[in-house]
Amino acid sequence: MPFRTLDSVDVAGKRVLVRADLNVPVRDGKISDLTRIERLSPTIRELAGKGAKVIVCSHFDRPKGKRVPEMSLAPMAAALGEVLGARVRFVEDCTGPAAEQAVELLQPGQVLVLENTRFHAGDEKNDRQFSEDLAKLADIFVNDAFSAAHRAHASTEGVAHFLPSYAGRLMQKELEALDAALGNPVRPVLAIVGGSKVSTKLELLGNLVTKVDFLVIGGAMANTFLAAEGKSVGKSLQEAEMHATALEIVGKAKAAGCQIVLPVDGVVSREFKPNPPTETVSVDAVPADTMILDVGPKSVAALIAQLPSIRTLVWNGPLGAFETPPFDASTVALAHAVAEATQKHGLRSVAGGGDTVSALRHAGVIDQLSYVSSAGGAFLEWLEGKTLPGVAALEG
Ligand code: 3PG
Repeated sequence: MPFRTLDSVDVAGKRVLVRADLNVPVRDGKISDLTRIERLSPTIRELAGKGAKVIVCSHFDRPKGKRVPEMSLAPMAAALGEVLGARVRFVEDCTGPAAEQAVELLQPGQVLVLENTRFHAGDEKNDRQFSEDLAKLADIFVNDAFSAAHRAHASTEGVAHFLPSYAGRLMQKELEALDAALGNPVRPVLAIVGGSKVSTKLELLGNLVTKVDFLVIGGAMANTFLAAEGKSVGKSLQEAEMHATALEIVGKAKAAGCQIVLPVDGVVSREFKPNPPTETVSVDAVPADTMILDVGPKSVAALIAQLPSIRTLVWNGPLGAFETPPFDASTVALAHAVAEATQKHGLRSVAGGGDTVSALRHAGVIDQLSYVSSAGGAFLEWLEGKTLPGVAALEG
C-alpha cells in the first residue's frame, strides 16, 4: 500500500499522538454504540504493548471552537479504559500547559486521552500554530481516524506536516478493504446505491459507473430514475429537477460499459406510517395516489439470483424506507443474501454509511460481510473518488 503503517516504525519509549475518531453516538448522555472505540483498541493496545507513551486526540460533535461541557471526551476516555481493560488517563485540554504536563508524566505503555480538539477553533481551521501545538506533544503521529479523514483539520491533516506520520491499524484496515473493493477489485463488481436523493449522491454515482460492472439503484433515488425514463411514479418521493442529470448518468454508464439496474416492481402505500395497507405493483402501473416505499419482491429476487456470479460488492444506502415496517423487507432480504454469499461463496462485500450500517445491524448481519466501514461522510467521499486529506498526509 502507498501509505506508511506501524510496521515501519519503532515506537518504544516514544510519545505517540494517535488521532482517533471518538465521535461516537451518545443518547441521554450515555454512549449508545461502542463500535468505533472497539475498532480503535487494537492500535492502542499494540502501541502501549510496544512501550509507546500513547496520547489519544479526537473531536466529538461540533462545539465550534468553544468549550462545551456536554461535548467533553471524558466519558469516551472512561469507555476506552473499559474496552482496553486498563487505566486511561484524561486531561482537560488538548494543547497548552495542562496537556504538556500530563504528557510529561506519562510512562511507556500508558494511555492518555486529550480533551476535544474542536474546543479550539484552530482544529477545524487547520491552523498552523494549533497544528504545531499538537505536534509539540509527541514524537510520532498515528492517524487511526479514517472516518474523519475527509476533514482537512489540524488534528487530521495539519499535524502530519510536523511529525513523522503513520496509518494506525484501523485506518490501514479501512484503506485495504476499500482498495480491494474499488481500487483493485476482482470482477465482476456490483454496487448497490440507495437512499433518498440523487442530488446528494451525484458525484458518487458518476464515479461508480466508471468503476463497476453493475450499478443497482434503490431507495427513493430509483423513483427519480424511473420518472426520468417517463414512468409515472404517483406520489413517490422523487426529484423532478434531477431528471436530466439522471439520464446523463445513464448515458455515462452505457459509455463505460456499466449496466444500471432499476427496480421492476415496488411496494406502494397511500400512507407513510408503520404497517399501513400496501400493494405490490409493477413500476409500469403505480397508482397515481400511492407512493413507492420499498423495492418489490421480483426486483429483490432478481438481484439475489445475480449474487453468485458477482465477486465484489459495494453497498451504500438502503433499498427502501427501512426504518418503517414493512418497508424494510427488501433491504433485510438483500442483507441476508449478501451475508450468505460472503460466508459461503467467497463474495467480497464492503458496506458503509450511517443508514447502511443501521440497516445491516437491523438485519442482524453486521458481522457477516467482508468489511463494514465505520465511516459515514468519509466513506461517501471515498466512493466519490475523492482524495481524503487525512489519508493523503500519510502517503509516501
Ligand atoms: C463522523 O462521525 O462522520 C466523523 O467523526 C466526522 O464528523 P464531522 O462530520 O462532525 O466532521
